[in-house]
Amino acid sequence: MNTINKKDIINGLQTEYIGRDFYFFEKTTSTFDEADRISKKNGTVICAKVQTNGRGRLGRNWESGNGGIYFSVILKPQMSTDKLGLLTSLCATAVQRAILEYVPCSIKWPNDIVSENGKKLCGILTKLQSADEKTEYINVGIGINANTDCFDEELKYASSIKLLTGKEADENKLLCKCLLEIENIIGKENTNNVMEEYKKKCITLGKRVRLLYAGGDSVQKGLCLDVNPDGTLVVKKDDGTLVTVNSGEVSVRGIYGEEYV
Ligand code: BTN
Repeated sequence: MNTINKKDIINGLQTEYIGRDFYFFEKTTSTFDEADRISKKNGTVICAKVQTNGRGRLGRNWESGNGGIYFSVILKPQMSTDKLGLLTSLCATAVQRAILEYVPCSIKWPNDIVSENGKKLCGILTKLQSADEKTEYINVGIGINANTDCFDEELKYASSIKLLTGKEADENKLLCKCLLEIENIIGKENTNNVMEEYKKKCITLGKRVRLLYAGGDSVQKGLCLDVNPDGTLVVKKDDGTLVTVNSGEVSVRGIYGEEYV
């Protein structure tokens, strides 16, 4: 099996514009750092075989050794910055479709892809780069645990396609499929329909959760009722009030044993 490499990705691309400007690094700190250094057109993709300083949500590290797929898609969409959560949800739906070809999986709000036994297979972190109060570009950073053989001990809720299926996933094909689905979903498909698909695939809905606000130590419990069309989550707290939470400010954790983060 070929591991991830530039030639097979370029040969396998089926997109019109996403990935047509393609940068590949055998090793780098993070695809977010590389984005600062290169010229960025809408649809540019930056991919790394290994990251030495991979970043995750809420200030965490993202383990980025051999066997994973680490990439950033640079987008310059004609949408206001408050739609960032929506864009991330759309990308999560796209990546879930691609991973589904290898292993049964769902979406954990806001943008994790998880296996049937609740193991995290993919995470997405979206960054907005602005200058002079104008959005310069959006960097959708995606990390997929494709053929990762083992994880750090503390990552007990992570797994990979290979570990779950016993078979190696073709990293190049999987990446090309992700790019194709992203291009289709953000440019060609009806956003409301995609968000309906997101909701059907979202295992967080109907679950009891704990809400942990960034920087705060209060924990609130409630039931997840809905995902709004902008990707925010509606939770009915145990005191009966409804809250709308966005992914930048809150960590949502399951109460009944599925406390992966
Ligand atoms: C999460 O915490 O769930 C988000 C993880 C995002 C990881 C990807 S890998 C490619 C890109 N570069 C990074 O440093 N992080 C993102």
